[in-house]
Amino acid sequence: MNHDQHLLRIKPDLRAHMLLDAAAGLQRANDSDFSELDGGVEQAGFARDLVAALSRSPRIISPKYFYDAQGSALFDAICELPEYYPTRTELALLARHADEMALCMGPGADIVEFGAGSSVKVRLLLDALRAPRRFVPIDISGDHLQAAVQPLARDYPGLAITPIAADFTRDVELPPALPGSRRVGFFPGSSIGNFSPGEAAHFLRNAAQWLKGGGLLIGVDLVKDPAVLHAAYNDTAGVTAAFNRNLLVRANRELGADFEPAQFAHYAFYEPRLQRIEMHLVSRRRQSVVLCGRRFEFADGETLHTENSYKFTVEGFQALALEAGFEVGPVWCDRDRMFSVHWLAAPNE
Ligand code: AVJ
Repeated sequence: MNHDQHLLRIKPDLRAHMLLDAAAGLQRANDSDFSELDGGVEQAGFARDLVAALSRSPRIISPKYFYDAQGSALFDAICELPEYYPTRTELALLARHADEMALCMGPGADIVEFGAGSSVKVRLLLDALRAPRRFVPIDISGDHLQAAVQPLARDYPGLAITPIAADFTRDVELPPALPGSRRVGFFPGSSIGNFSPGEAAHFLRNAAQWLKGGGLLIGVDLVKDPAVLHAAYNDTAGVTAAFNRNLLVRANRELGADFEPAQFAHYAFYEPRLQRIEMHLVSRRRQSVVLCGRRFEFADGETLHTENSYKFTVEGFQALALEAGFEVGPVWCDRDRMFSVHWLAAPNE
């Protein structure tokens, strides 16, 4: 190893130490401080959460750390896979029923999108809405947001765009309501499936408050033949496996960890009793990893649980929404009942 390579190997690890310290400080800091900080926060959170994940048993980490630039690109590739039905099914529902959805949302809408992926979906709504006033995309990745905002600003000159870089699983502060405008939420892609039942209830309760007087348009993946679900998370091209392993690749790149991604197997399965897909990385042998100056052992076959993706029945999801304070409105489903889009009204009081 030459001198430069050595430096490259040391530096990220030192950086990881600093990030861990920063994270410890952040935990003490007020939540409202988050908005003022840059990408370092995201990384500090990653270092803190990965160390915590590897320190407990069983090991589990939030799927939000999949989405660095490479992970987001891999997710976009997943959405194009023949086995991954949710994206194209939801897109078809939005395209087909955009007018009815726009009527629910009403004229002069102030649209808050939770998680700003590709703007394809919100464009379908924007094209159907009458005089939308403002678009507020919230995403954990600032880079992601910037990329999404510029083309939209160009194509919708009458629309105010106020991106917010924040983790909406926390208590985010939204910009003040526009006078005379209805605040409506958009949460596509069944990303709510990543939340535990408790987190989903918490998010929906928060959303019902934020969106008072308006409502939420939300995409929800449905329970179905386990073989279909299994295939969607075990594609033959191996893109989902690469997406899963990217968590380790990212830890190596950003935190100077020394995971050998090829020594971890992608393992995803449907657990019908919990109505969820579980994704894991399973150690192919006994091995150890150094992260942030700590050494972690993996037994042969030990797993790091990287994601849950809950599936719902239409009625089960409506019960959650009611419990959170929404009124249930129309539901749009494809003929095969693969995916659903719900309008939930948030009553004023
Ligand atoms: C973005 C959370 C909806 O759970 O289907 C895709 C993420 N993980 N393949 C999902 C994902 C593996 C996706 N969500």
